Amino acid sequence: MTRSIATRLLRIIFGCYFIVTVVVTVIQLAAEYRHTRTRVESEIEAMQQTFGPGIADAMWRFNDDIMRGILAGMKELPIVVGIKVVDDQGKLVRAVGTVLDEQGRHMQAQADGRLAPPLRDDGLFGQVFSREFPISYKLENGTPQDIGKWTVYSNRRIILSQVEYGFILILVNSVIKTLALWFIFVLVVRHWLGKPLQQLSDYVGNLNIDNLGSKPLKLEHGGNTELDLLANKINEMRENILTGLSERAVLYEELAVLNESLERRVAERTEAVRHAQDELARSERLAALGSMVAGIAHELNTPIGNSLVAASTLNDKIHALGQRFEDGLRRSDMQQFLDEADSIGVLLTRNIERSASLVSSFKQVAVDRTSSQRRRFDLGAVIQENMNTLSPVLRKTPYEVTVEVATLVAMDSYPGPLGQVVAALVNNAIMHGFHNRDHGRLSITVPVPAGDHAEIVISDDGAGIASGHLNRIFDPFFTTRMSEGSSGLGLNIVHNIVTTILGGKIHVDSMPGVGTTFRITIPLDAPMHHEEPIIPRA
Ligand SMILES: Nc1ncnc2c1ncn2[C@@H]1O[C@H](COP(=O)(O)OP(=O)(O)OP(=O)(O)O)[C@@H](O)[C@H]1O
Ligand SMILES: [Mg+2]
Repeated sequence: MTRSIATRLLRIIFGCYFIVTVVVTVIQLAAEYRHTRTRVESEIEAMQQTFGPGIADAMWRFNDDIMRGILAGMKELPIVVGIKVVDDQGKLVRAVGTVLDEQGRHMQAQADGRLAPPLRDDGLFGQVFSREFPISYKLENGTPQDIGKWTVYSNRRIILSQVEYGFILILVNSVIKTLALWFIFVLVVRHWLGKPLQQLSDYVGNLNIDNLGSKPLKLEHGGNTELDLLANKINEMRENILTGLSERAVLYEELAVLNESLERRVAERTEAVRHAQDELARSERLAALGSMVAGIAHELNTPIGNSLVAASTLNDKIHALGQRFEDGLRRSDMQQFLDEADSIGVLLTRNIERSASLVSSFKQVAVDRTSSQRRRFDLGAVIQENMNTLSPVLRKTPYEVTVEVATLVAMDSYPGPLGQVVAALVNNAIMHGFHNRDHGRLSITVPVPAGDHAEIVISDDGAGIASGHLNRIFDPFFTTRMSEGSSGLGLNIVHNIVTTILGGKIHVDSMPGVGTTFRITIPLDAPMHHEEPIIPRA
């Protein structure tokens, strides 16, 4: 907790002032007391002149009445509490008031002149002090003769009662001075320190970024002091911040404008990039189509060319036969024609069949999503059905095929194209992986689906794919067995089905001599398809 500097100052200064005042007052009181005691003692001393001769005379004459009268008169003095007169033998002659006996005990003189202990103890202030005078009587011849002693008793209470008034004056004086000083100090400190400091702290406390523009600080109390300097510094600082802020505001504005133009430029550039991307995609698609058409033309060229050659050869043969028929056809000519026509027919049929099969493959490349049947099914069951369809072929081979499906994997997708994918991959494993091998192991695994995707892993321990071929196997017409009638469209069709119809991904891992693994990840819920042409992967 913070305490006001004015209060703290007041406490410290008045703490010290109070201690000093108390000490000085005590010293003053002690001095007053000493002074009064000295005065009382000198008054007692003076009593020797006044009463000494009377006492001596009364003693000499044994005049008890005079003696009693003198002592009663002395006792009336305010500084005297008791008087005792003894003879030269030390025997008590007469006493009044409070006196001390031979043993120094307090005694009270009775009316008959005897001493008795006082009725009550008078305490510290009742302590008596005394002054003893000799009683000396001057004989007629002028020689003094000691005939006894008289003692005057006084006590502290008498001195205190003498200084009482002075004490009160001193104390009242100190208290009034202290209070007056306190009051003046409080007023001054409040005015010169407390109020300006409060104003300063209120001003600084209320200062924030929004009210910097309000009026400058002007101290209402306190005059030209360091606090005014401080207030001026605060005003200066406020001005500096204001200038800084307005400069910054200009900068912010410029920045905002810059930002806006930047955003606009970014938007324009983004639009341009998107446009370029669209263009690129379109030209890529066109290029893909182009290469596709070129591939198709190239592929069809051979069987159709062969068919054309065979057909025109057959035509020639028929013409020649006609000529011979007019000249006179021999049996052997007819036989030769029939043999040739037969082999040309076989060639023609084979080439036209090849063309027809190529055309049907091409049709599959442009996978038709809309004609594919979508339904709910169990993935394991669909894979098993496909394997059953393939089993007549598989049974003729020496290879071991296993199917492992973890659980029921419910899907809403396209079972037809999915079966086509599995069949193409199994065929590839047998055709390429196990080519020229008398043993091989092929496994189809479906692990428990993680999340909303299913995985199909088709793995063989066959020849594997050369690393240089790995990134080309999905291209259309890429095949390592061209001469053996492979078209190289199988994996391209697989890729298209997986990525477009089934909405998934296909990944291949292969090592020559170790085997090949195709990993297909597809959503349990296949995407919905609109009727749009699918451009095959180039
Ligand atoms: N399991 C596999 N083991 C080894 N090589 C493979 C395997 N699968 C594919 N390949 C290689 O990938 C090439 C491309 O396969 P893809 O199925 O596209 O064409 P293809 O089988 O040669 O011809 P198509 O399938 O059209 O009859 C194959 O020629 C072969 O070299
Ligand atoms: Mg194939």
